[in-house]
Amino acid sequence: MKVRKFDADFSSLTPHWSSNHEFAQLYNAASLCPAQLEPYMCKVLLKAKKLLPARAEALHREIDWFIAQETEHCRAHALFNRIIATGYPGIKALERQYFADYSRLLKTKSLRFNLAYSEGFEALSALPVDLYFQDFDEFWSESDPKAVAMWKWHLAEEYEHRNVVFEVYHALYGAGPVAYFWRIYGLFYSAWHIMRYSNAFADILLSKDREGLSREALAASKAREKHVKQVSWRGGWRYMLRIDSPFYSPHNRKPPVGLLELLEIDNPGTGAAA
Ligand SMILES: [Fe+2]
Ligand SMILES: [Fe+2]
Repeated sequence: MKVRKFDADFSSLTPHWSSNHEFAQLYNAASLCPAQLEPYMCKVLLKAKKLLPARAEALHREIDWFIAQETEHCRAHALFNRIIATGYPGIKALERQYFADYSRLLKTKSLRFNLAYSEGFEALSALPVDLYFQDFDEFWSESDPKAVAMWKWHLAEEYEHRNVVFEVYHALYGAGPVAYFWRIYGLFYSAWHIMRYSNAFADILLSKDREGLSREALAASKAREKHVKQVSWRGGWRYMLRIDSPFYSPHNRKPPVGLLELLEIDNPGTGAAA
């Protein structure tokens, strides 16, 4: 694993960085989540690190890489999100509420719960990892390359560090039925919680865009939204079943075509080769 610096200059972007505005807004909503979620996961991993024995050297090192990568993701998304939030009142207040949720989880829930939540998100990222590299060409082709580069870089590194939280969770809590129960609880809780915020962000963005549209234009916008969501959830249930299995291991996940090549690039924002 390594940390790749992403050239996060989004000054040329607008919230409608794809000519399919509904696609851009649904993924703007998705981008608003990691800016709160990833710093939370780093805090959870730092707490876990303190409990791991010193002899688990490899795991300590992997946690450091994980945190370095997630910090860089968060930095890029925070810059990207500045473009998105402009002109959409309500986003800032919802971001504050989302941040407060994570502060509350850290304060009131056990480390086991918080790690299970974090692992839930890491496992769920398998779906967009495959989608972004295999199923989104119709959307990427009408999108600004800078936004495409950010999403692909982020999800490629999600694939690269896919084992870390899983390993830490099992190192601390074992692999028995109780550990399985908590992992599944964290998975469903994180899916519900993150989707709740992602949908709420999308509602704010799309509702504002749709103000004053004619009936025909509104129907066309809703049809495009529906199509983006259908493609985004292609294979979603299959993934959920795979992740739910007591035999699930992120070690067995296969990379989609093109992902490993992207990980060879040092600065995916400019395309500089390693
Ligand atoms: Fe990330
Ligand atoms: Fe991650």
